[in-house]
Amino acid sequence: MVKAVVAGASGGIGQPLSLLLKLSPYIDELALYDVVNSPGVAADLSHISTKAKVTGYLPADDGLKAALTGADVVVIPAGIPRKPGMTRDDLFNINAGIVRDLITGIALYAPSAFILIISNPVNSTVPIAAEVLKKHGVFDPKKLFGVTTLDVVRSETFTAAVVGKPDPSVFKIPVVGGHSGDTIVPLLSLSEPAVEITDSDRDVLVHRIQFGGDEVVQAKEGKGSATLSMAHAGFRFVESILKAVAGETGVVENTFVYLSGIPGGDAVKSVTPGLDFFSVPVELGPSGAVKITNVLTGVSEYEKGLLEVAYTGLAANIKKGVDFIVGTP
Ligand code: NAD
Ligand code: LMR
Repeated sequence: MVKAVVAGASGGIGQPLSLLLKLSPYIDELALYDVVNSPGVAADLSHISTKAKVTGYLPADDGLKAALTGADVVVIPAGIPRKPGMTRDDLFNINAGIVRDLITGIALYAPSAFILIISNPVNSTVPIAAEVLKKHGVFDPKKLFGVTTLDVVRSETFTAAVVGKPDPSVFKIPVVGGHSGDTIVPLLSLSEPAVEITDSDRDVLVHRIQFGGDEVVQAKEGKGSATLSMAHAGFRFVESILKAVAGETGVVENTFVYLSGIPGGDAVKSVTPGLDFFSVPVELGPSGAVKITNVLTGVSEYEKGLLEVAYTGLAANIKKGVDFIVGTP
């Protein structure tokens, strides 16, 4: 029996993500938690004739505890989204506290669950989560994931458009680093099938993948950021976890993880300036992350340059998240 929880279930991502999860054959119980409207969203979804039993919880009456108890996987899209002109880091002041409090709930009521963090800035909210879990003595790096799948989805879509392939899903492109602007590093040189384009087309494509989020923020004109494509990406990641739990082998997703806790992670860390967190291709198994593939050693000179830029931004974002919990020295 698999219980999935969505924290932030009434929001722009939360609702379509919950819909997709309600349709999943891998889920038996779906608990929706939010500070508003979650019983309504749950009532609506509960009429769909698929097997998952749907329940909705608000903070009152120990709702977080009730939602989380028995959870196998918790997905967190709670928090405010960007408006035009904002960076993801501008969301830190509000979203850091939201993520800290939700993770505290997970540490208390669902310490063995897989935790998938969507809330931005992912480069900082995942380190926040790790520190909270460490404080409670329940940090398992193999089960904590920053969801960077939307960067992978975008790289597939935008690359297919540039090279004129009708089906973007044929592409397998590692996207490493973090989840904001130039911390997002698509490794087009490692794409399968190979991408053969001019250097100037490559530059435009890389920029579009790095700043794809801005396209949506601007198009929505102050009404939020990517929600539907994110729901798809979040669902893809949850299903990959649940497929691996169900025994499927060879399941790999790029995700922002704590490197040292996962086999292969220290090799990646040694290529970076000692970064603790990085998005990398991670093979998933029944107990979480099984193995990291070190793709950083096979990259082009151009991509080495992109990585150097990403390292600097990431180091600052990670430190900001860690300091939020452990305090500045
Ligand atoms: P939204 O405002 O539409 O929804 C957020 C939801 O969170 C709301 O329903 C709100 O009530 C709820 N919420 C707020 N505080 C909460 C708390 N303490 N506990 C539970 N729920 C709480 O926003 P959205 O468009 O769904 O975006 C959510 C987050 O996801 C943003 O931070 C956004 O930047 C991020 N995001 C990340 C990615 C990614 O690739 N990782 C992609 C898109 C958006
Ligand atoms: C995205 O990449 O679409 C999200 O991180 C939302 C944003 O703020 O751009």
